[in-house]
Amino acid sequence: MKQMDKTRILFICLGNICRSPATNAIMQKFVDEAGLTDKFVIDSAGIGPWHVGQLPDKRMRQHGTKRGYKIDHIARQFDASHDFNDFDYIVVMDDENYKNITWQAHDEGERKKVIRMADYFIKYKGRTSVPDPYYGGDSDFELALDLIEDGCRGILNKLTNKGNS
Ligand code: 4NP
Repeated sequence: MKQMDKTRILFICLGNICRSPATNAIMQKFVDEAGLTDKFVIDSAGIGPWHVGQLPDKRMRQHGTKRGYKIDHIARQFDASHDFNDFDYIVVMDDENYKNITWQAHDEGERKKVIRMADYFIKYKGRTSVPDPYYGGDSDFELALDLIEDGCRGILNKLTNKGNS
């Protein structure tokens, strides 16, 4: 059921086991720490069906734990039949995600809800995506978390009218 008084954000990546569940947990923590828990609905979903029902990738959970995040979203697949309607912003991690999700939009209004995480980077302004760490190593997971923290700060600043530096 749609909650009209809240800002509803859905984070998207390919598998919903690395980048978007991490973003889900990090944004939720930032919102909670800002005392805005009641003002936001945060969720995440994947483009592909491969990991539906699974906990996030163990490597992402471990890297997240070291930074104080509990990354425990259960993977689900993006569903264009209701996710466009249920969310105000659909935030994608890279250009492939952007193409895939905008292609599923039913009209211009839905297409405009789709935004790129990279457009909200502050410290990492100039980078164009949160690269997929799935086939990478420790440094790729750390970079993904650095970029995600930066993008979440940027999005929250924007939505709370603190600017985007
Ligand atoms: P994510 O990473 O999109 O950040 O969750 C991936 C996880 C799994 C796969 C691809 C990317 N996969 O192909 O199974």
